[in-house]
Amino acid sequence: RLSREIHDSVGQGLSSITLLLGAAEQDWDRRPTTAREHVAAAGSAAREGLDEVRQIVRDLAPADLEDDETGEALPAALRRVAATGAHGVEVQVRVHGDPIGVPAAIASALVRSTRGALANVVEHSGAHRAVVSLTYLSDEVLLDVRDDGHGFDPTLRVRPGATGERADRGRGLDGIHHRAADLGGRAEVESAPGEGTTVSVRFPLDGRGAGRG
Ligand SMILES: Nc1ncnc2c1ncn2[C@@H]1O[C@H](COP(=O)(O)OP(=O)(O)OP(=O)(O)O)[C@@H](O)[C@H]1O
Ligand SMILES: [Mg+2]
Repeated sequence: RLSREIHDSVGQGLSSITLLLGAAEQDWDRRPTTAREHVAAAGSAAREGLDEVRQIVRDLAPADLEDDETGEALPAALRRVAATGAHGVEVQVRVHGDPIGVPAAIASALVRSTRGALANVVEHSGAHRAVVSLTYLSDEVLLDVRDDGHGFDPTLRVRPGATGERADRGRGLDGIHHRAADLGGRAEVESAPGEGTTVSVRFPLDGRGAGRG
């Protein structure tokens, strides 16, 4: 749950900061320019870490996703994401089925995936409207984020590791896929140029209220 997020974000960040500062110390006298570069890299790693912490805190904030007996916390968190992440796009949140408490890791993955998908709607789609649907089935929870924008060819998307100004981009959809796979779920992107885009994520649930935590 939370520990995985912290490990992957803050933990990774702190260990690279440690390495970079160690390297800077070594180069301090004989290679001051290199040392300064290490310090600068440590600085950006620290800023990224801070962003991650803020995001984790925001996503989980009222610790309500953690032990959500009523199942109301997740829809509420999605409405907050829709309200804060819409930036001029009209975003509706619809809930189908009976909300139940889902494991916090899954709830948090759904919130973060919604945030990433909506960021893409705002940034890339040219859409006027987007709909976030959360559907509770007996053994599955399903999220989709659909927009009426111009779409894209998902097979042509830029991968992480690309060069140039795209070098540090292209992590949003990959993050959604990996986050889903890590928790036994599955993510799909459906889109075509000239049509809208739907990003969907589904997670199996082991029965009502089971598998929490
Ligand atoms: N809803 C959408 N409408 C149109 N194009 C999209 C949409 N979502 C994603 N894309 C396209 O897919 C690409 C990959 O999206 P992804 O979120 O992985 O990366 P990014 O948004 O470019 O960068 P990052 O999310 O890492 O800041 C985008 O650059 C964009 O071309
Ligand atoms: Mg993105």
